[in-house]
Amino acid sequence: MDKEQIKNRINKLREKLNHHNYQYYVLAQSEISDFEYDQLLKELIDLENQNPEFFDTNSPSQRVGSDANQEFMKESHSFPMLSLDNTYSKEDLYNFEKRNKKIITEDFEYTCELKYDGASISLTYESGILVRALTRGDGEKGDNVTSNIKTIKSIPLKLRGINYPKLFEIRGEIFITHEGLKKINSERRAVGEQEFANPRNTAAGSLKLLNSTIVSSRPLDCFLYYIMGDNLPTNSHFENMKLAREWGFKIPEHVKKCKTLEQVIQFIEYWEVERKNLPYDIDGVVIKIDNLKHQKDLGITAKSPKWATAFKFKASQVSTKLLSVDYQVGRTGAITPVANLEPVQLAGTTVKRASLHNSDQIELLGIHENDTVFVEKGGEIIPKIVGVNTTLRDSNSKAIQFITHCPECGTKLERVEGEAKQYCSNIYGCPPQIKGRIEHFVSRKAMNIGGAEATIEALFDNGLIKDCADLYYLTKDQILSMDRFAEKSATNLLKSIDESKNVPFHRVLFGIGIRFVGETTAKTIAKHFHSIDILKNTNLEQLKTVDEIGERIAQSIIDFFKDDKNIQILEKLKNAGVQLQIKESDIRLTNNKLDGKIIVISGTFEKHSRDELKELIEKYGGKNASSISSNTSFLLGGANIGPSKLDEVKRRNIQIISEDDFLKMITD
Ligand code: IVH
Repeated sequence: MDKEQIKNRINKLREKLNHHNYQYYVLAQSEISDFEYDQLLKELIDLENQNPEFFDTNSPSQRVGSDANQEFMKESHSFPMLSLDNTYSKEDLYNFEKRNKKIITEDFEYTCELKYDGASISLTYESGILVRALTRGDGEKGDNVTSNIKTIKSIPLKLRGINYPKLFEIRGEIFITHEGLKKINSERRAVGEQEFANPRNTAAGSLKLLNSTIVSSRPLDCFLYYIMGDNLPTNSHFENMKLAREWGFKIPEHVKKCKTLEQVIQFIEYWEVERKNLPYDIDGVVIKIDNLKHQKDLGITAKSPKWATAFKFKASQVSTKLLSVDYQVGRTGAITPVANLEPVQLAGTTVKRASLHNSDQIELLGIHENDTVFVEKGGEIIPKIVGVNTTLRDSNSKAIQFITHCPECGTKLERVEGEAKQYCSNIYGCPPQIKGRIEHFVSRKAMNIGGAEATIEALFDNGLIKDCADLYYLTKDQILSMDRFAEKSATNLLKSIDESKNVPFHRVLFGIGIRFVGETTAKTIAKHFHSIDILKNTNLEQLKTVDEIGERIAQSIIDFFKDDKNIQILEKLKNAGVQLQIKESDIRLTNNKLDGKIIVISGTFEKHSRDELKELIEKYGGKNASSISSNTSFLLGGANIGPSKLDEVKRRNIQIISEDDFLKMITD
């Protein structure tokens, strides 16, 4: 081939590759296989290498980036990169319309678009060639990231056709799909690198990488949504964007022209739900007045255009600054790290604190002092930290080190094998543990000592109680000696304490706080062993023969009784008259009328609460289950049985028994 032929072949190859890039990356359809594409690219690269005089920075071969470390030049935007006015309320949209109607007296239309959550970019094209790509920067000046941008295959380096303006700027959002992030993260995981927390930061971080070869390996994409220049083809934003698609740009398809605000709101409501099915993140909808002349008439403020507004969806993830980490000591001595955050709005509430769970979690997140962190609200009420924006980290900030000693009593922390938490072993000397145990003892499902939960702190701080049994030896004078306690509250407290002496044994057993003995296990144990004295004298093997008691619970029971302090407390409780065995009447009353029956409760009842009915079922040998299955013996039904339960019993032909019939059944 002579030079002319080589030049022609190179041009032909470039044209072909540009065409296939457009097909694949913009229109999401491909006419050739990956193999054929790679063959063409290889041929082009070889020819270019052998004939450097035909080098062109806009050749499709240049999409692979360069290893040469680059420095980004700060350059001025030709038009400032403004931000958008934000709102979360539909009412604001009506105000937006009202303001606009004051200036534009003729009819106008809106174009609604999705608000892509990535990194904004401004691209300049001269005679159809991409000449510059600037990041947003401070809005006036941005970083020139052209070499990185050229690696993004959906961005045309050379435009198609001939009908584009000679010089224009087009703006859009660099983003990465959820799939793309997954792919990058699995690669990073494989080589032990810190994973990225979300697509937005991955996109923004990638743009600033100094080595464009690495950028080319990131699955970045770009939607364009705004074009500026002197000779735009039409006066409609919507139409111009449609034309820009023909020039080779990836213009989003989820766009709607709306004549009324009602249609705009429909679009918003649709995407508020549907956004979860998109392969990329959006954080709202952008509403633009379509006509460019109207846009000009409305003008801009210092920060944002008056002709557009963004309706933002309530965020389920936000980023904020970590201020400090506190360590809370629970009633079992378990230490929970809690992050104090710079207050931030998240899904309608202000978040100031978030749980960090345990030291493993801190290590996994790799969190440093003063880090910018991502906070998420899942199903739980307490928000959690799901990641760190390492790109914003101070280079000299230190990693958060989990404490080694209890923040309350100074005891060295211990970690039990197989458990995620660190513990303070100073059970009897560490104030929050003692208070926590007493609070648990008085709680509703245990001794149900009304009003005491809030009082425990005061009683403990005044030295009036040191353990739960001390409650039964309090005098009125002692209570009255505390601030803010008057005759009435003291009497009520004492009355409630006195009444708790009738609380059945199984709830006392739950209340004394043997580790791993929850409500249900306490019931099982009470039913099986009948008294604390019998339980105390039972060995590990005997304990393990009981249904539902495994090694862990059995060992915990043994450990509890080994501790003299616990024996002393039990002694004091016994002397005060607290139920440490099941009542004679309970033993006598108990028959096996419901033996082997599995009963589901649903609805509301007149004579007994659901908890009482549960107790009755168990007392008479039955089992209470929460959902209906083929083993269900019958449904104990009150008023307003749940519809799904009702359907299920009908389907399975299971009998429904009323409260009265049930009571007859066990007492007859
Ligand atoms: S139009 C002059 N349209 O939102 C207004 N912006 O808070 C030009 N964004 O900086 C922006 N999706 O990064 C426009 N469909 C969309 C958008 C969009 C996302 C971003 C953009 C902008 C920010 C404004």
